[in-house]
Amino acid sequence: MNNLHTDFEKSVAMGMKSQPRKLECQFLYDARGSAIYEQICNQPEYYLTRTEASILAKYAEEIHKHTGPVTLIELGSGSSIKTNYLFNAYSKNGVSPCYVPVDISDSALRLASQEINQNHPQIQVIGINSTYESAFPLFSAASPAMIIFLGSTIGNLTGEETDQFLDWLSFNLSIGDYFLLGIDLVKSKHILEAAYNDAAGVTEQFTCNYFVRMNRELGCSIDVNSVRHVAHYNTEQCQIEIHAEFTQPQEIFLQEVKEYFTVDAGEKILIEISRKFHLNKMINYLKEFGLEPCETFTDERGWFSLLLLRKIQDHRKTS
Ligand code: AVI
Repeated sequence: MNNLHTDFEKSVAMGMKSQPRKLECQFLYDARGSAIYEQICNQPEYYLTRTEASILAKYAEEIHKHTGPVTLIELGSGSSIKTNYLFNAYSKNGVSPCYVPVDISDSALRLASQEINQNHPQIQVIGINSTYESAFPLFSAASPAMIIFLGSTIGNLTGEETDQFLDWLSFNLSIGDYFLLGIDLVKSKHILEAAYNDAAGVTEQFTCNYFVRMNRELGCSIDVNSVRHVAHYNTEQCQIEIHAEFTQPQEIFLQEVKEYFTVDAGEKILIEISRKFHLNKMINYLKEFGLEPCETFTDERGWFSLLLLRKIQDHRKTS
């Protein structure tokens, strides 16, 4: 049993014991989950990826002009498709930039590295198969660097987790290093809920895959057909909340804690949140971590923003 495997079981055990029950969304991304997520990105209702890609296509050169040559470190790189725009901008005039993708999915990392080697042979790729946080201590050796965190993945962290994430990220950046952050903005409930309830049911498969993974890796025998994907926008909290609702009762046995967990019919388990942001509030919040905005890029509809930030001072928010 490898470490990630035991981490998964420990995390599920903790989530099943908590009230209300919730599971950690990082474990949605096994090989199948990562592949399903790529399909979500292509769904007509899921505007996030397309919108962010259009911003990158338009402003990659400007971002490059601003930062000059830097090591590109991408957190949660997945397929690295959107990063192509940056590769083109950073490879001008015979320069061979170094790209460090960091991803928890080994398969996504391998596929992305192969594609980059084929399409951009000038790029030196050094993949890191780990959680984001484990890669942070490597930042100083890579400076001058730009940390890239796209797709509004920051929205999948709770407020407290975001505090810790930014505190630790900024702590590990050198003064003058850059942070390129993609954030999804608050918009109408109708548009948001459609994005997380695509008509083809791909997001539903993504949710169900959590339990497919539990069955395969943890030896559970959950009836995956009794899992219903429920995604609602919580207007007060400005977040999409994705639950797995069970239509049939389940007994889930976890070896790690040698315990049975009973899930009642109708019970909902929180799988993921996806926070949506107010641009100005987010900019002010990032300043608390010594991250100063250099440029803010937004699409014409004002749905998504790409923030180019620079670490200008040391600042520890928490100890
Ligand atoms: C990866 N992350 C930014 C996606 C999101 O929009 O929150 C994950 C996702 N979950 C369901 N659809 C997409």
